[in-house]
Amino acid sequence: MPLQRGAFLSIKDCMKEQRVEFSFTVMENSGELAAGDAALLDRARAATADAYAPYSRFRVGAAARLANGQVVSGTNQENASYPVGICAERSLLATASSMFPGIAIDTMAISYDGDAVKSDHPISPCGMCRQSLQEAETRGGNPIRLILAGREGEVYIISTAANLLPFAFTPTELG
Ligand code: THU
Repeated sequence: MPLQRGAFLSIKDCMKEQRVEFSFTVMENSGELAAGDAALLDRARAATADAYAPYSRFRVGAAARLANGQVVSGTNQENASYPVGICAERSLLATASSMFPGIAIDTMAISYDGDAVKSDHPISPCGMCRQSLQEAETRGGNPIRLILAGREGEVYIISTAANLLPFAFTPTELG
């Protein structure tokens, strides 16, 4: 409805729809990856063997290339007190930040295998890890590319982890 001059602007008149969307790359399999990305995904796949996941029997491996060229990996580490466990992604972020403080993460590959599932499609980071990835990006000052894949099947490439967490709560809110 057109606004009349001097008319009171109601909330309904102010409403507008906003859209959040992002695009990502899908590959049929890891054979399509560039050599460096394929090597990183191999590291993530291999890292699953180091997971400590006796409760879920779902082993996640992550490997990241840092801006200084170093590669760091992480795995999920569970606990008999279930909530104490930590995901592979956050274990990697803590390791990277401790071993190479102040060095940004360039690309992170994430893979998995499980006793009860076939590792034949990409998984994506849980909500808590998305929050952590988002802040690691802000700290590093550059986007973290994600390569998501199982042992076989499609590969997703996401150009920035921030895409996975629209409306993120960020440190700027804290003043
Ligand atoms: N897990 C990860 O390490 N990363 C994810 O992105 C999803 C889930 C772990 C947590 C837990 O040890 C197991 O997988 C099952 O949820």
